Amino acid sequence: MEVVIVPDAQAGGRLVADAIARLLRRKPEALLGVATGSTPLPVYQALTGLVRSGDADVSRARIAQLDEYVGLPAGHPESYRAVVLREVVEPLGLDPSAFLGPDGSAADVQAACEEYDRALKDAGGVDLQLLGIGTDGHIGFNEPCSSLASRTRIKTLTEQTRVDNARFFDDDIAQVPHHVITQGIGTILEARHLVLLATGENKAEAVAQSVEGPVASLVPASALQLHPHATVVVDEAAASKLK
Ligand code: F6R
Repeated sequence: MEVVIVPDAQAGGRLVADAIARLLRRKPEALLGVATGSTPLPVYQALTGLVRSGDADVSRARIAQLDEYVGLPAGHPESYRAVVLREVVEPLGLDPSAFLGPDGSAADVQAACEEYDRALKDAGGVDLQLLGIGTDGHIGFNEPCSSLASRTRIKTLTEQTRVDNARFFDDDIAQVPHHVITQGIGTILEARHLVLLATGENKAEAVAQSVEGPVASLVPASALQLHPHATVVVDEAAASKLK
């Protein structure tokens, strides 16, 4: 695992966007796994800048979602499909048909999960998976105690994660769904390159445990230690509890 410490979130965004641009030069049709939440936004902004300046070509890139809320009405602005369309697909000028995601409103959620794992395989697998990290060490929505071999499946969000995400729902925890579909840790580990980005002091403890602690299901992001090509990009605040 490689750990890169950058001065701030913008620098982290530029560094990861540059890595994506390099990958696309090597493999123009790369499948990029994208996360939602606040952390990756500087990456998408920096990548949009590179596309506009002609330094990145995303015209053949494909996008895969990491997770999705279950039970939000179709078209809800905070469904992760809507967020990825708004923050990634539209600014980058990608065709929405180049975008894979699990169906959070499927009548048979279990079947939708299995279908998504199959779709990722059929698409040739994720080339670069961008990850954020929860304050409790989750990746995707694999909360503490998730199996390190887990596949895409339905999960219940912890109270802490619902509190953390209430800011996207008018600061009203009652509006935050209880369930999500998330790529499993085993699914995530199949991506060819994992890039975890963490910024801010509130991620420092989770980062330290993931990078320097034992590999344990109690800290799902510690599974990155098992991956042959994992990069952890942290700003100085998120790095502050590393030894
Ligand atoms: C979202 C996701 C989550 C977030 C994590 C951090 O797709 O997979 O694991 O990355 O909850 O969220 P932020 O970046 O908002 O702190």
